Amino acid sequence: MSLQQYHFSYKVHPDKTHVSSADQSLIETATKTCSLAYAPYSNFKVGVAIRTTDQQTIVGSNQENGAFPIGQCAERVALYNMVHFHGRKAIDTIAISVDNPGQKTPASPCGSCRQVLSEYRRFQEKPIRLLLTIASGGEVYEINDVLDLLPFAFDGAFLGL
Ligand code: THU
Repeated sequence: MSLQQYHFSYKVHPDKTHVSSADQSLIETATKTCSLAYAPYSNFKVGVAIRTTDQQTIVGSNQENGAFPIGQCAERVALYNMVHFHGRKAIDTIAISVDNPGQKTPASPCGSCRQVLSEYRRFQEKPIRLLLTIASGGEVYEINDVLDLLPFAFDGAFLGL
């Protein structure tokens, strides 16, 4: 038997003034995008802003539906927007902002979004960095790579891709 360990670190910035101005403006774009969310059922509005490596910004917000399971998360809306309107680009950073009354900590992508993010990550050499924030302000969590959030991901390699 051998014991394997998985370890990852992330940064916690006290607020958005402690990150670069480019990251700050990405966070602000994500926060503004919360206003486009359609979240009458959960009242949990999520705004996402993707910065591509060629410095384009693409946004997405969560879109719910009365038939709950068919709602779509902001992360996937943003990723699919990117492919359809800008092409399949390499991603540098994704800012995710949550506008929810009483939210104390930034929210992180759900399991399905982690799965999709990890497959997008496979298209590129470089890590996809995440900035997790709350719309009303407060701490910013910086995660170096989406792959850190999904160890042992199931991916296309299992299907011979
Ligand atoms: N949601 C997202 O948009 N992204 C996440 O990473 C977590 C959850 C949405 C889905 C649903 O509309 C609402 O937040 C509450 O789960």
